[in-house]
Amino acid sequence: MKPVKESIAAATSVGRFAVIGNPIAHSRSPEIHQAFARQTGRSLTYERLLADPDAFEATVRRFRDEGGIGLNVTMPFKEDAFRYADRHTSRALAAGAVNTLHFTATGVLGDNTDGAGLVRDLDGRCGASLAGVRLILIGAGGAARGVMQALLNAGVARLIIANRTPARAQTLAARAVDWPRDSAQSVTAMALTDLAGLATDERRLIIINATAAAQAGGGSLVPASLLARAALAYDIGYSSGDTPFVKQAREAGCPRVFDGLGMLVEQAAESFLLWHGVHPDTDPVLARLRAAIDGASTH
Ligand code: ATR
Repeated sequence: MKPVKESIAAATSVGRFAVIGNPIAHSRSPEIHQAFARQTGRSLTYERLLADPDAFEATVRRFRDEGGIGLNVTMPFKEDAFRYADRHTSRALAAGAVNTLHFTATGVLGDNTDGAGLVRDLDGRCGASLAGVRLILIGAGGAARGVMQALLNAGVARLIIANRTPARAQTLAARAVDWPRDSAQSVTAMALTDLAGLATDERRLIIINATAAAQAGGGSLVPASLLARAALAYDIGYSSGDTPFVKQAREAGCPRVFDGLGMLVEQAAESFLLWHGVHPDTDPVLARLRAAIDGASTH
């Protein structure tokens, strides 16, 4: 498949949008997109679409027939969405998964904004300059695959994919072989169980958890001694209060620890840009979302 250049929709685009997944009731995307719409003076509808695992296509077709313009796609449908799209952005091709569909007069464009969302959050909000760092990416599933190329494009010098099942980490590392990148950048794979023996330069180490799991075999995914040496730890997941990985990293003494709520808002902003042609201001939306999530935990 030929990559197409990321298209920018007409700034006047308004209409019907949704997020599709299973489960979907927990999704924060509607409130995020409505906040972006208010901020940028647009009016749109944005709903949650629950699809049976075998009914992705039928549900999307119905949404399109009813005039839908764009869909965000979440678990477990990102690969179905990739197959559904007629054309793909280069970052969707690299991820092999689509989290944003755009229904246009010329067909269905599939994009993946997860990696861009992560890098914007790391770079802008967390103050993590990625150029030249060593980065350990925990996990080799869809979430890790979705962000890998963006991390390399942001200048990560050594990307180490560490996974419970090392063969999956190797498969993921092999994807990067053909990507255009600096010859000095390396991508390697290892087993989670080998992390304890990793020699690192602590000032330049970032650890990202891209698994939904917090524990491996009863202990934490990453040895506390390694978390203690990292300059920054980031959990792609989020929850009200600290995620287990965030808690472990803080307790280990890692100086800068973040969860993935910022990435959630940033990937949504990238989808908003694709559909509406304008990049919203994410800070106020994230602040409100954080307050809502933390508030929900106390009620
Ligand atoms: P996702 O799309 O969320 O990445 P996935 O493709 O099912 O979901 O991948 C889940 C990831 O979490 C994998 O890296 C998985 O490790 P394996 O490849 O070894 O299965 C990882 N994972 C899930 N449960 C885990 C656990 N208890 N300990 C360590 N890693 C775990």
